[in-house]
Amino acid sequence: MQTDDAIADTTEAVLEPVSSWWLSGTPLEAEHQRLMRRRQIEIPWAQSGAAALAPEERQRLGETWTRRAAAEYLAVSTFSVLAIDLVAAAAPADVLSLCLRAGIDEVRHAELCLRMVEIYAGKRILPPPGMSSLPDDPKRPKLHQALANTMLVSCVSETYATTVLSATRDLTTDVCAQEVLTSIYSDEVMHARLGWSYLRYALDRGGDGAKAAAAAMVPIALRGVATVVERERPIGAVTDAVRGHGLMTPAEERQVFSACVREVLVPGFAALGIDCGTATDDYGAAWAEAA
Ligand SMILES: [Fe+2]
Ligand SMILES: [Fe+2]
Repeated sequence: MQTDDAIADTTEAVLEPVSSWWLSGTPLEAEHQRLMRRRQIEIPWAQSGAAALAPEERQRLGETWTRRAAAEYLAVSTFSVLAIDLVAAAAPADVLSLCLRAGIDEVRHAELCLRMVEIYAGKRILPPPGMSSLPDDPKRPKLHQALANTMLVSCVSETYATTVLSATRDLTTDVCAQEVLTSIYSDEVMHARLGWSYLRYALDRGGDGAKAAAAAMVPIALRGVATVVERERPIGAVTDAVRGHGLMTPAEERQVFSACVREVLVPGFAALGIDCGTATDDYGAAWAEAA
């Protein structure tokens, strides 16, 4: 009876499911809503200005949010795999709980993206199945693997996510898109902090060997994100109206990544004593303007 009350209470008090078609249709839904509610801000779904867009603009945005949904869904598995590395390396409790929490955040991000696909494309899709894999070398010290994969996932990918989300939010005028981006952004900031904090902790304990493992990961992690930035985009022009709904051009994204490397990542790693090699040149003006 207590359980029923709890479920009734939850479903009543909680926001409507963000993308109801992605739920199981079982009583687990109530507990899920409780989890998702933690950092939830209310999204003004009804105020979306999607209806005023031209069909090809809606399609362009629908495709973009479809890709974003797939990326957020994959990020669920990324943090799950990273959590295994961190457990294996005897990471502290706060690092573990935040890493597992990040996976939950990514479920919510995927839900938000699916809802945006519905708004722009009128389709109730599901994320495509799949999982991300992280570099895995059983022969290396667990601490080295954990810190290297934390750099890849958190320090580089999530830090870049915060910079690109922040820049995208600045040009977004649609209130619904703005709130969705803000909601995701606020989580990604924590996902990045998790990595930088653990990196410092691990370097303090791992000495020169850990520093060398970190330095070896720098070019790999930067290339990983650069490959995503360089990727082909969905067909369709990024009109002013499309920009107002939260979309930059590929050329702008290159500039953001280049600035992120130069102004955030390289100084951040250098401050921890990690050699970044030619990173600033690799992603300097020539790369940024190659789009
Ligand atoms: Fe995310
Ligand atoms: Fe994230």
